[in-house]
Amino acid sequence: MRRPQFIAEHARNARGLLGRLIAFIMARETWSQNLRAMNALGIEQGDHILDVGCGHGRSLTELAARAPRGRIFGVDPSKLMVQIAAQRNRPLVEASRMNVVLSSVESLPFPDNVFDKAQCVHVLYFWKDIDMSLREIARVLKPGGRLGLLFRTNADLKAMASFPPEIYRFPALNDVSAALERAGMDVHIVGHDANEPALVLATKR
Ligand SMILES: C[S@@+](CC[C@H](N)C(=O)[O-])C[C@H]1O[C@@H](n2cnc3c(N)ncnc32)[C@H](O)[C@@H]1O
Repeated sequence: MRRPQFIAEHARNARGLLGRLIAFIMARETWSQNLRAMNALGIEQGDHILDVGCGHGRSLTELAARAPRGRIFGVDPSKLMVQIAAQRNRPLVEASRMNVVLSSVESLPFPDNVFDKAQCVHVLYFWKDIDMSLREIARVLKPGGRLGLLFRTNADLKAMASFPPEIYRFPALNDVSAALERAGMDVHIVGHDANEPALVLATKR
């Protein structure tokens, strides 16, 4: 059955009470795929890490635990998600180990070459321009820095039928790989079964 459009709309831009409930459910629904991305990234203790579309911020907590000498940044364009993520991680934010910033991927509020790792889980469906967004992530990664990009592709027919296409755009894996290459990154696909989300690791050249 197709997810109602108003629920999908909150996954793209959560707000109000319903948005809060959806953030709560999302933090459970996406957890195993976030762990998959984090495990593949090979996080080191001193890494500076960016989570693009961090949503509820559950992964930010885990990233901070895996990089206890690094700094963790989450960005999200939903004011409600930023508020939830900052609240969830208040001690880390207060200790200046973490920042949660209201921003979308198209214009990241960071200088060039600052992050060792970045992750982005179930977010690219909502981007206006995949090329521009990947160039922006590549810009803020250090040379040799790594991105873990996790998303459902258009080969996942069940997902294609379940999520409203007006809101979710599932791309072809090859198109995203080509866009990563154009953004100056070397691409490595971590085993892709069409019915599972794809995990792409990309290293900035
Ligand atoms: C399906 S949720 C995934 C949240 C989290 N990454 C997870 O795995 O649970 C998608 C998130 O992407 C955010 N988002 C939507 N458009 C975005 C954009 N252009 N740039 C960055 N984040 C965006 C939404 O606000 C939402 O928090």
